[in-house]
Amino acid sequence: AKEPVRVLVTGAAGASFSGQIGYALVPMIARGVMLGADQPVILHMLDIPPAAEALNGVKMELVDAAFPLLKGVVATTDAVEACTGVNVAVMVGGFPRKEGMERKDVMSKNVSIYKAQASALEKHAAANCKVLVVANPANTNALILKEFAPSIPDKNISCLTRLDHNRALGQISERLNVQVSDVKNVIIWGNHSSSQYPDVNHATVKTPAGEKPVRELVANDECSGAAIIKARKLSSALSAASSACDHIRDWVLGTPEGTWVSMGVYSDGSYNVPAGLIYSFPVTCKNGEWCIVQGLPIDEFSRKKMDATAEELSEEKALAYSCLS
Ligand code: NAI
Repeated sequence: AKEPVRVLVTGAAGASFSGQIGYALVPMIARGVMLGADQPVILHMLDIPPAAEALNGVKMELVDAAFPLLKGVVATTDAVEACTGVNVAVMVGGFPRKEGMERKDVMSKNVSIYKAQASALEKHAAANCKVLVVANPANTNALILKEFAPSIPDKNISCLTRLDHNRALGQISERLNVQVSDVKNVIIWGNHSSSQYPDVNHATVKTPAGEKPVRELVANDECSGAAIIKARKLSSALSAASSACDHIRDWVLGTPEGTWVSMGVYSDGSYNVPAGLIYSFPVTCKNGEWCIVQGLPIDEFSRKKMDATAEELSEEKALAYSCLS
């Protein structure tokens, strides 16, 4: 039998009831959705002291559900205990933007959270731990985590843009009235924010007459998050949780031949995106490593959009650094 993999989920209590991604995510992990149906897991769940009771309730539910793959649950408000020995870390916890709050104040709260959790991960996680930051501002939180965990390789730190990617696939399938599994290779470029560029120039759909480009259909992706809040009175949770599983599964187990996915990763300057930003790129994964898809032709319209979202990320980075000093 395989050795259990330790998976950390921060913000696991979903106790402030914005959307409760953590609450949707932990049963998926315990069922093998993230790492495979033959991979035992030990869940580590971290939340803050006001959410300790709720977190314990989630632990009780996990026990009650009797997941065969779940070999243990650590539920704690201590970051060191939470991070010890983890192989995968999914960072959902963060400080939400509240009405009337300045952008800088929210940034400042999250910078201090991610700085502290970076140190805990760096010192206590398993070697080669893979990190996925979900909490917003996701790209910049991931960048802060990277900067304050210098011994964790750049390649092991990422942020979630897979929900945006999946949303684009879903919308194309709705509009063309085709199966979502027949649509592939959309790209989300840049920031997980309204400046992101959902690019369908390279996307294809499987038809009885072969693979066809979907270029003429633009994924109107940007309003979708807001539409969910309007309908559910809560933000996306199950779709975010499911997409976080997709992100880690493809990273660990690999992407199918001929298919790429979007991941927020540390830019090496590919596509003239400034190096040193966490930016969403098209990637393929193999043997536990992602690799940016190279050589895609970029037209003038795309270039402008890609630059604009990079510009926003540079500003966020500067704002984050101003919170540190
Ligand atoms: P939520 O408010 O339901 O849950 C957040 C949890 O984090 C709460 O239980 C809270 O107590 C906890 N928390 C706060 N500070 C913490 C800390 N220092 N350490 C550990 N836990 C802490 O929020 P929800 O809806 O689950 O969203 C979580 C985050 O994910 C938000 O930042 C949201 O904006 C972001 N998000 C990102 C998406 C993406 O695609 N990247 C999609 C949807 C949401």
